[in-house]
Amino acid sequence: MRIEQLDPAVLEETQYVASELFPWEHEHNTALLAALFPEAHAGFLEERRLNAARFWTARFENRVVGLAGLYDYRGMPSDVWLSWYGLLPAARGRGHGGRLLDWVIRTARTEGRTVLRLWTTVEDEYRLAIQLYEKRGFAAEEYPPLPGESWRTIVMSLGLTGATPIPWQSVADRPALCGRVAPVAEAKVA
Ligand SMILES: CC(C)(COP(=O)(O)OP(=O)(O)OC[C@H]1O[C@@H](n2cnc3c(N)ncnc32)[C@H](O)[C@@H]1OP(=O)(O)O)[C@@H](O)C(=O)NCCC(=O)NCCS
Repeated sequence: MRIEQLDPAVLEETQYVASELFPWEHEHNTALLAALFPEAHAGFLEERRLNAARFWTARFENRVVGLAGLYDYRGMPSDVWLSWYGLLPAARGRGHGGRLLDWVIRTARTEGRTVLRLWTTVEDEYRLAIQLYEKRGFAAEEYPPLPGESWRTIVMSLGLTGATPIPWQSVADRPALCGRVAPVAEAKVA
């Protein structure tokens, strides 16, 4: 597996992979475009309070089989958020997902970030991903379902410098979770 920065030549293929992985979401389409053409998608970045969205692709024999993004929120220069991470089913179960995640963790650490965070939901399809995050040392903060949703959201945080990260719930003026309403109810630190 090769991990490469998103290239315009594979934009459509990567959008296809993202829509296979997250068929009920649409934000990844715009986020992938914004990573390549930030000026043309300044409205999206502004609305999401992002400085930048960046993506990498996982490729086999030149085919895109997976992706991982990093979101840089404004006013949070020490934190970076993993977004739209996954591999097509045929590429799973052979250690590649773990390697892609390790690569993202190394990248964030090399950039001098203090915390890598992500949000996900407590649903069967993300069970393996959540286990993998926990194996890598991410700590989970669990929230009650957001209005109109029956599933719970969790925010997971990994300290990159050896220090325990500030729980996301304690961060003042928290940005929305990739466009979702930021949970404001009390969190339980798992
Ligand atoms: C999460 C995901 C990227 C993992 O990719 P993968 O290539 O299957 O992962 P790996 O083969 O590296 O396995 C990761 C760990 O899970 C374990 N694992 C993998 N498949 C497993 C299975 N079917 N049953 C039990 N454990 C399994 C492995 O033992 C491994 O543990 P280790 O790191 O201690 O060896 C992949 O499952 C995926 O794309 N899921 C759908 C999208 C998704 O959930 N994205 C995250 C959204 S928050």
